Amino acid sequence: PLYSKIIGTGSFLPNAAVGNDELAARLAKDNVETSDTWIRERTGITQRYIASPEQTASELGAHAARAALEMAGITADRVDLIIVATSTPDSTFPSTACLLQAKIGADHAAAFDVMAVCSGFVYALTTADAMIKSGQTQTVLVVGAEVFSRLMDWKDRTTCVLFGDGAGAVVLQASDEPGVLANRLHANGKLAHILTAEGSINGGSVVGDPFLRMDGQAVFKQAVSVLGDVAKEVLAAANLTADDVDWLIPHQANVRILQATAKRLGVSMDKVITTVHLHGNTSAASVPLALDVAVRDGRVKKGQVILLQGVGGGFTWGANLVRF
Ligand code: ACO
Repeated sequence: PLYSKIIGTGSFLPNAAVGNDELAARLAKDNVETSDTWIRERTGITQRYIASPEQTASELGAHAARAALEMAGITADRVDLIIVATSTPDSTFPSTACLLQAKIGADHAAAFDVMAVCSGFVYALTTADAMIKSGQTQTVLVVGAEVFSRLMDWKDRTTCVLFGDGAGAVVLQASDEPGVLANRLHANGKLAHILTAEGSINGGSVVGDPFLRMDGQAVFKQAVSVLGDVAKEVLAAANLTADDVDWLIPHQANVRILQATAKRLGVSMDKVITTVHLHGNTSAASVPLALDVAVRDGRVKKGQVILLQGVGGGFTWGANLVRF
């Protein structure tokens, strides 16, 4: 087979949603002042999901993976590779992908993690597509799973209101028809400082700042510019134009980034799948989560062209153009 095709999607959100008012009330106890109005007007976010302490990325990812396998109509023992995109792994090692493999019983699968922060899923899908097209694998489970609540400084209102936990997954399989049409990946390590969680483990303790830190305005500007550029690149690679795209599914960081990206591409907001208002920013989970929501509610249909886009820490960015 010349192509790889998405044959199932799944997602999972932990616990009950935490609305902006509830979050503001929790933060007020620590004298951190925020409001539903501020969060909604600046970001579009109205609620997010927060994992319990025992719910890890592999746990959330396993739920999403099972749902994707069920939709695909295949059992876990048919999977020959698992790639998990995460920046909040269960442990330094083993990889979250190995832990997820054990949870779902995918005993014949190889497993590894990809770390590209909010671009992680786009990087993982690109890798899975290449592995299938080179003939090395047939059926790949590609998962984005994150517990960014663990990285939040709950005293920093400029970041802690933005993120949420969750997982999304797709099953990608070798196919005689397209499929993934084109992929493009980029990174610029010189911009590492605008979005970091620099803490690492050394000699039994965390060295460096353990929390996520962000220069919000720098990230905003960078995100809008690179998302526009990479969309054009991946469309050109497949000889298509923005008019051929049925659905734009960008990383869900902020509704204003989605609006600015759609405008730059000349795509109407009616064609942009938006979940950030309900999920917050779930980093590598946001794109497969949004895709699964739109597949299950009937918006994304077989044969349509979808443009997936990631952007985030690193700085990293990329896109996948897919005939669903
Ligand atoms: N509640 C109330 N007030 C707040 C909050 C809050 N949660 N956070 C910041 N403020 C205040 C600030 O202190 C500032 O007050 P001041 O004027 O008295 O100094 C004021 O609001 C304005 O702050 P700005 O940082 O200028 O607000 P801005 O309009 O830039 O919005 C935001 C900030 C939402 C972070 C924006 O820059 C943004 O969306 N950036 C993109 C970053 C992003 O979405 N990152 C997600 C991760 S990256 C990724 O996934 C690609």
